[in-house]
Amino acid sequence: MSSTIHIVGFTGSLREQSYNQAALFAARELLPPDTELEILSLGNLPLYNQDLERAEPEVVNLFKEKIRQADALLIVTPEFNFSIPGVLKNAIDWASRPAGKSVFTGKPTAIMGVGGKMGTARAQQHLRQILNHLKADILDKPEVYITSGWEKFDSTGRLTDEPTRQLIRALLDALVLAVDTPALAHAS
Ligand SMILES: Cc1cc2nc3c(=O)[nH]c(=O)nc-3n(C[C@H](O)[C@H](O)[C@H](O)COP(=O)(O)O)c2cc1C
Repeated sequence: MSSTIHIVGFTGSLREQSYNQAALFAARELLPPDTELEILSLGNLPLYNQDLERAEPEVVNLFKEKIRQADALLIVTPEFNFSIPGVLKNAIDWASRPAGKSVFTGKPTAIMGVGGKMGTARAQQHLRQILNHLKADILDKPEVYITSGWEKFDSTGRLTDEPTRQLIRALLDALVLAVDTPALAHAS
């Protein structure tokens, strides 16, 4: 591992003015020292089809390789119909294959999301369930449920709410600690 901690981040929203994408950009401003965040788009991944696994599409291969090489992951999920968006599930399904060789195994992973009144709490529960199954090393805390996105970001997409900025900073600090000391991912 190089001395700079490399985090890979992605979101399930493809919307140009997405609050969740804006939260990812905010995270890039709030990183601890000696840490970088590479943001990936999920929009170019094809729909998962097991037939394609025989000759895996190059974009899928690249996506999996980025996750494999990452020291840690930051997944930012909107809530769609009480769950994660299909775009995000599609990406996770690709990266979970082949069975038993998921690139998520043991990967320090932080999750957060921007939504309405519930701040994506229901979607994050589903995301935890999926990532637990894939044996990712998911941070227990802090939980980052960003409510009422329209109140937290300005018209340029900048996160202006200071308590939320502090919460994301705390999440990133915990993620970096989990990379350095894996047992701390579940410390109280
Ligand atoms: C198909 C669809 C389903 C949605 N379902 C929920 C939901 O179950 N709970 C919720 O709080 N918001 C729901 N929303 C609202 C989104 O959370 C909201 O539009 C959010 O801003 C989307 O994230 P984005 O700004 O990053 O694109 C839904 C939106 C769409 C388009």
